[in-house]
Amino acid sequence: MTPDAPLLETVRQWLAAARQVAVLTGAGVSAESGVPTFRDAQTGFWARYRPEDMATEQGFRAQPALVWRWYQHRRAMLQGVQPNAGHHALAAYARQHPGRLTLITQNVDGLHQRAGSPGVLCLHGDLMADRFLDPPRPCCHPDTVEAGEPPHCPRCGNLLRPGVVWFGEALPLPVLDAAQQAARTCQLMLVVGTAGAVYPAAGLAHLARAGGARVAIVNPQASELDGVAHAVLRGTAAAVLPLLLAPAA
Ligand code: APR
Repeated sequence: MTPDAPLLETVRQWLAAARQVAVLTGAGVSAESGVPTFRDAQTGFWARYRPEDMATEQGFRAQPALVWRWYQHRRAMLQGVQPNAGHHALAAYARQHPGRLTLITQNVDGLHQRAGSPGVLCLHGDLMADRFLDPPRPCCHPDTVEAGEPPHCPRCGNLLRPGVVWFGEALPLPVLDAAQQAARTCQLMLVVGTAGAVYPAAGLAHLARAGGARVAIVNPQASELDGVAHAVLRGTAAAVLPLLLAPAA
């Protein structure tokens, strides 16, 4: 599915005229890479558990070994997937236009980074990263943790946890600040592959619009942000982003 040519051309003109471009991505940008969503990943042994019960600090403290194994399972699934044409188009655009594009993602899969996008603002953290559960004490060093499920500081027992934002947790403030600044100051915001239902991420599109930017959506389905947008490009990320971001012929 690709959007009609005149609308695509209009958004290309907005892009050409924009000094600063902000892009907000969600799970849809990774759909064509075959990244299983939170819920799709609940197969086999894991089908009996609810993500909402495990992706919380309370769930981790209650059953650290189980939750650690679940994250290891999700990390292993990511090893087998590759960035798609949508991720690559964004990375190529950033290379061709240094300093012009701010890429903000809700995804924790690292595929934008693997495609070569610089400075990705990861609102919901990074599935492949670890950090300590409790504030690190002088004895806590990521390099000297004792192996285990989860690995932990051999002196005080502080556990490693995945570096993602769990339900009920605040977003990393410096990342959110940078994303909001990019939204306020851009002339074009592209909203790609997100249902637009989770805040504060979805609020970035409202901020951009309020700041005077054009807002364009890339999504094959209706989203909750369609009403905020000046243009809705109905199509998938891997099909539309290369058309939108390719240099003019
Ligand atoms: N290209 C573009 N968009 C697509 C594609 C595709 N190939 N396939 C699906 N989509 C769209 C869907 O139509 C939907 O609007 O991607 C969106 C995915 O919506 P969600 O699964 O709700 O993902 P997202 O909006 O990223 O969720 C936000 O919620 O689950 C939490 O923390 C998690 O970061 C996540 C946040």
